[in-house]
Amino acid sequence: ASSAPARPARSARTAHGAPPAPTGALADLAAWVDEIAALTRPDRVHWVDGSAAENDELLRQMVDEGKLIKLNPEWRPGSYLARSHPSDVARTEARTFIASRDEADAGPTNNWADPDDIRATITPLFAGSMRGRTMYVVPFSMGAVGGPLSHIGVQVTDSAYAVASIGIMTRVGAAVLDEIAAGKPWVKTVHSVGAPLEPGEADVAWPCNDEKYIVHFPDTLEVWSFGSGYGGNAILAKKCFALRIASVIGRDEGWLAEHMLLIRVIDPKGRAYHVAAAFPSACGKTNLAMLRPTIPGWRVETLGDDIAWLRPGEDGRLWAINPEAGFFGVAPGTGESTNVTAVETLWGNTIFTNVALRPDGDVWWEGLTDQPPAELTDWEGNPWTPASGRPAAHPNSRFTVRAAQCPQIAPDWDAAEGVPLDAILFGGRRATNVPLVVEATDWTHGVFIGSNISSERTAAAEGTVGELRRDPFAMLPFCGYNMGDYFAHWLKVGQKLRFDRAPRVFQVNWFRKGADGRFLWPGFGDNARVIDWIVRRLNGEAGAIDTPIGRVPRTDELDLTGLDVPQRDLDELFAVDPQSWLREADLTEEFYDTFGDRLPAALRAELEALRYRLGRR
Ligand code: GTP
Ligand code: MN
Ligand code: MN
Repeated sequence: ASSAPARPARSARTAHGAPPAPTGALADLAAWVDEIAALTRPDRVHWVDGSAAENDELLRQMVDEGKLIKLNPEWRPGSYLARSHPSDVARTEARTFIASRDEADAGPTNNWADPDDIRATITPLFAGSMRGRTMYVVPFSMGAVGGPLSHIGVQVTDSAYAVASIGIMTRVGAAVLDEIAAGKPWVKTVHSVGAPLEPGEADVAWPCNDEKYIVHFPDTLEVWSFGSGYGGNAILAKKCFALRIASVIGRDEGWLAEHMLLIRVIDPKGRAYHVAAAFPSACGKTNLAMLRPTIPGWRVETLGDDIAWLRPGEDGRLWAINPEAGFFGVAPGTGESTNVTAVETLWGNTIFTNVALRPDGDVWWEGLTDQPPAELTDWEGNPWTPASGRPAAHPNSRFTVRAAQCPQIAPDWDAAEGVPLDAILFGGRRATNVPLVVEATDWTHGVFIGSNISSERTAAAEGTVGELRRDPFAMLPFCGYNMGDYFAHWLKVGQKLRFDRAPRVFQVNWFRKGADGRFLWPGFGDNARVIDWIVRRLNGEAGAIDTPIGRVPRTDELDLTGLDVPQRDLDELFAVDPQSWLREADLTEEFYDTFGDRLPAALRAELEALRYRLGRR
């Protein structure tokens, strides 16, 4: 890249000042940045180089401005707490739009907007929206810079919190500009918190706007996000780009962008297997990604905890990378007894959002320890004691930390070519019906299972199939195009794989409950016992029983050494009730009908075959 044209200077230059005359693709980038600046009218433009010095300065400024609280370095070195506005705590699905030219391309599961109409709506909102603020220009790569599965983008934003978060979650810096200079296509992402400052007006700790728009333009590969500072709405590289836009690119280029964790499992003989798993939000991806097996001789190396990009290789295998460089994980429920790996990962250099603050300057959240501290400051900044009767940390409070800090991260986790997948797992929170583990009979059956992922709310929906929330492939909020086309794309990708080298597909369910409402399966580290069966299936070393919904282990095939699960619970964990499954099949038909002729015939055939096996002839 030594012949690359001069890249724009890093240091602040005014929006209307003379750029350093780059040429070619970098000139296009500079012109685009000028265009956004002319619209949003920031006081300054800052090209982010991703250096440690720059990051330190950014964090110091945010502390000075009251936007971050520096945690006590004795307990949590290099770490900060951000408190959001109480209204800006999560992704805003109702304000998230897919603005495809053709409404049918957004499909029945997305909010569609006409691209011209929505541009006309949001452009006035962005006009002058960065007044009084700095506009940061952040070039980033998803996947190792220059890697064969990697993609690049640029985010402009007026949020320093977003810049610091993107710095943790992606690869930021000058090497990305070299890629742009060399002609690699890049995705344009624009973010404004929508809170311009009048001259002399004091800033607030978490600027945002009541009006929010997260708009994706799949035809021009653009994202425009207005009004929110929350990670999922503000770190545009993550859900907006790496899932919604990337799923569209993947559709056109023959690969898949998925809401999946990625791990390497090493068995007692030292053999390594690669597993990806899609579970809906808050259904255990980060936990499984950091699994500590309870059975001797097994090890898990973490590769990713939220997003995987999968591409068929020349060798007929499905290759996967984690395009991210960090974890943006749910804090509550993360503790020594559930996910000690995550707790160790968070030793320092972490940005926490909406957790509670201890008097000693460290953080706390529900589930970190069994007993809460006697006093805390809650996520809204109010005094809190265990008698307060409300959570101290927001239920969607999060940590943002570099992947490299995970004690069991795979040594080659950022290898550009990725890893070849041996198994794909689909799961959700199901109190009933779905066994602990089921093996699909082939790829098409696996796609059928993925298309039917659903989750129950633990208290309300118990036992009633009618209260299932469908979340196909755990992608309901993240698929950037028609979900029916997406199912077809999964089938097509399968055809590019060699039949004996394609990953085998399994459905898992850690959440099945007994009649008394208690989990039948201990979960967490003991999920390694399910992985063990899956791996032995891959090797032809474990038997299975055919059921109408797929293959389940004989219970004596699961390694339950040292585990105290009564036989009655095991029987219930694997029970397949034809009547409930037939009712579920009716719901599947209703769901499938919403896709009209975009639903692949092969999936309808799977549904009819399932009904036949369940006894409806
Ligand atoms: P996003 O990051 O939002 O996409 O979600 P995620 O899939 O990473 O969810 P996460 O791992 O943070 O899920 C956490 C929730 O699932 C917590 O309430 C955990 O206690 C629970 N959980 C995870 N694994 C298990 C398990 O094996 N058994 C049970 N019973 N609960 C589990
Ligand atoms: Mn997620
Ligand atoms: Mn997670």
